[in-house]
Amino acid sequence: MATINPAYARLSAGYLFPEIARRTREFQSAHPDANILRLGIGDTTESLPPVAVAGMKEAVEKLGDVNTYSGYGDSEGITPLRQAISDLYQGWGADVNMADVFVSDGAKSDSANIQSIFDTDNVVAVQDPAYPVYVDSNVMAGRTGRKNDRGQYEGLVYMPCTAENGFFPEVPKQKVDLIYICSPNNPTGTVASRAQLEGFVQYALEHKAVVLFDSAYAAFIEDQNLPKSIYEIPGARKCAIEVNSFSKTAGFTGVRLGWAIVPEELEAEDAAPGVLHKMWTRRQNTYFNGASNVVQAGGLATLSSEGQKQTNELVAYYMENARIIRDCLVELGLKVFGGVNAPYVWVKTPEGVGSWEFFDQLLTDCHVVGTPGAGFGPSGEGYFRLSAFGHRENIQEATQRIRDRLKL
Ligand code: MLT
Repeated sequence: MATINPAYARLSAGYLFPEIARRTREFQSAHPDANILRLGIGDTTESLPPVAVAGMKEAVEKLGDVNTYSGYGDSEGITPLRQAISDLYQGWGADVNMADVFVSDGAKSDSANIQSIFDTDNVVAVQDPAYPVYVDSNVMAGRTGRKNDRGQYEGLVYMPCTAENGFFPEVPKQKVDLIYICSPNNPTGTVASRAQLEGFVQYALEHKAVVLFDSAYAAFIEDQNLPKSIYEIPGARKCAIEVNSFSKTAGFTGVRLGWAIVPEELEAEDAAPGVLHKMWTRRQNTYFNGASNVVQAGGLATLSSEGQKQTNELVAYYMENARIIRDCLVELGLKVFGGVNAPYVWVKTPEGVGSWEFFDQLLTDCHVVGTPGAGFGPSGEGYFRLSAFGHRENIQEATQRIRDRLKL
């Protein structure tokens, strides 16, 4: 008799973004004439960089010719792409080698899968609010109890990120084993300083903990003083894993390509250097046959100097959107965070208005969809996220509607 993984029963009913899509669909069917503008999920809208299209076309042509056809590749990814990714890091002043790079189908999968190489007894700390994948994947793995009436899963350590601490937490007071940090942060749009990351690296080295660092939005950092990778911090190779992606910079949200950095030197309480690196290799060899060879060719093309120029233009386009959104909300007198060095704008909802209430109000009054802060964790209550990914004219139209119609 088959039985099911009981941990799934502890999960909140639905994953955040499908839930938003469901509510939006309901509103649309009740108001068929409404032209709904979506600033909810951080999904890219502009077309792929021409170099990526050319790279993928060429790879497809090769597959169509028996002399250049290739089948399975290494699950870690093609060597030139791994090399180009490590060169990118070296350019940021981050200590990453080709052998540390594991190409994948995206940072989302990696950030969910990575927990599988750690014991289920590990105590997990998350920023609160946080990208829901970190929490949900650990709930599914059985590392938590049920959600309590404060909206927290028992057994998880929540590190509140509030206006008071500039949306970046202090290191935990108790001993934790796995620490998820996202910078530039999804959802708050704030970026950790070098000193803040040094604090977490120091903590992890002292406690033999591992930091799982999500840098999917690193390319949006314009301020040269802010770290793009945790490997810019000395000691991080011993205590940190990093995930990143082509999704937001090169518009690969549908194409799918990302990577994880698992350094050889990485240690854990019961793992000498090399063990975790080998375990991740083993995990990927078993569960994954490598990212699509066509897609890897596209990703590689975006890391050429022409490709970097084209992706930088895309990033600048979305950052201009972020500025437009920020300006609108500031003008309305709302408290606005993020949207600088990050594509997400994080806004305090008006006094007495909850996150989901604000979602309904924005949808009803302005036909604009955003993401309720509460969906990212209890400390997100009273906040709301607007994504800068979108066509410029839609961002302009959405902000005009917010100015004209939102009753504050
Ligand atoms: C978000 O909106 O938080 C992201 O787009 C979701 C994702 O990258 O999976």
